[in-house]
Amino acid sequence: MTAKYFDFIIIGSGLAGLFASLNAAKYGTVALIFKTDLKVSNSYLAQGGVAAAISEHDSSYLHIQDTLKAGRELCDREAVEILVHEGKEIVESLIDGGMKFDSLNEDILFGLEGGHSTRRILHSNGDSTGAALVNFIFSEAVKNKNIQFFENFYAFKLLNDGLKCTGAACLNLLSKETVIFTGSNIIIASGGVSAIYPRSTNPDSTTGEGISLAYEIGAEIESMEFIQFHPTSFYSDSGETFLISEAVRGEGARLVDWKGERFLKRWDADELSPRDKVAEAMYNELKESGRPNLFLRLDHLNPSSVKERFRFIYKTALKYNVDITKDPVPVSPAAHYTIGGIKTDMFGATNISNLYAVGEAASTNVHGANRLASNSLLECLVFAKRAVEHSTINPASSITGTKMINPISFDARNYNQNLRIKEKVGKLLWEYAGIVRSEEGLTKAKSILSDYEDQVNSKKDEYFLQNGASIVLCAKLITESALMRKESRGCNIRSDFSASLAKFNATIILKKNAAPRFQEMNTKLEIKCV
Ligand code: SIN
Repeated sequence: MTAKYFDFIIIGSGLAGLFASLNAAKYGTVALIFKTDLKVSNSYLAQGGVAAAISEHDSSYLHIQDTLKAGRELCDREAVEILVHEGKEIVESLIDGGMKFDSLNEDILFGLEGGHSTRRILHSNGDSTGAALVNFIFSEAVKNKNIQFFENFYAFKLLNDGLKCTGAACLNLLSKETVIFTGSNIIIASGGVSAIYPRSTNPDSTTGEGISLAYEIGAEIESMEFIQFHPTSFYSDSGETFLISEAVRGEGARLVDWKGERFLKRWDADELSPRDKVAEAMYNELKESGRPNLFLRLDHLNPSSVKERFRFIYKTALKYNVDITKDPVPVSPAAHYTIGGIKTDMFGATNISNLYAVGEAASTNVHGANRLASNSLLECLVFAKRAVEHSTINPASSITGTKMINPISFDARNYNQNLRIKEKVGKLLWEYAGIVRSEEGLTKAKSILSDYEDQVNSKKDEYFLQNGASIVLCAKLITESALMRKESRGCNIRSDFSASLAKFNATIILKKNAAPRFQEMNTKLEIKCV
């Protein structure tokens, strides 16, 4: 077992982790730890883009309004103001620094997505915005001598000296050696949990370990009931899927049923309604028809514009013999985004000293009960920078506590067992904590998960077994929160409570060995800008 000290220990290499690293490198040494490679993150896969009110036809006021409206009375207004104002500044500074967004004659081309009242989405390389942004920030980070990259390192425990978080114990997945990273500031940027669901737009590795690690050392976990389902994920009989960006509907694509008829109006929605509404309408339509999928049609749009704007989607669909410029594109909803996560304040700080969370792993309350499309890359940028700036107030730690760490092993024979747990839990969540939930289903899921918990908790000293335990824990957090929210709001749609209730204008917070609690939401602040 070896030990290393860095001023900043950042876990996760999506946009939030990379941007945090780049900012942290101004203040000290950085260990950027990630379990796979840079191309395996939700940020990298992001298609639609990044929302920022920088068009002359737009305003921060409108962006704030749209975010709050989509969030269904559960956004923290202060957090939303920070997101919109500081996000705009950061996006402008990235452009000044050389980040290229798609433009025509030097004018940025803004896309449209559900819930936005105007064209506001910056995109790059057509539908590969996440990859372009991640590569851009990475190209800066890799030149910085203060940042060391630890690829194929899996964080299996956060260290805590009783007063504060002091580091992370990691397994080097190649050498199988345990390495202890200690540091003054620990930032979790390891993404959400949506890959636990069998139909998901996320990379398979997005199963919420960062959230579990934080929970285990007493961090508060908030809003886990709000798993956002993306309405249009490609449907194939094999179960393979990939995202068909909402920006496709922004450019005029239409959702149709098996008769080729538009159906959304019947469910009080249209193609550019906020995501919760479109996903619910599709759920109802699928249930009523008994079909596994619906279709997106783009054949009325200009084929060369479609191929140029949606290069990745066009090429990927062709692999399934679907030409999106001509053929109906089979689609169905899939788990997409974890709105909740490790509870933070406006600076990414958690309730544990020196422990921060940013990006999809965090709950900053900017998304409320339903995230406005393309606000997540913006959140990564804004709160990663804030967390780093705030964390510089923490005095430097010395290396402590390494002797108390039990290393974990890596035994490939447990791979199948982990896969089985993931499949079982995924199926359970899909059925009982999917797009539409009920008391009966959630109670059943909770009881089954308790049994699984008993099975996995006794064996957590091996990589795959620990991963299985983390999956069960995250599923439990989702189920418990969904059970407590006895109303329908945003992404928590309950068949047994159809209305939103004012008494639930609060988030649900879970903490290990503590009673769950509701925290009233700060929705009362006036919007400061015009
Ligand atoms: C999309 O391109 O539809 C996804 C955008 C997002 O999830 O913000």
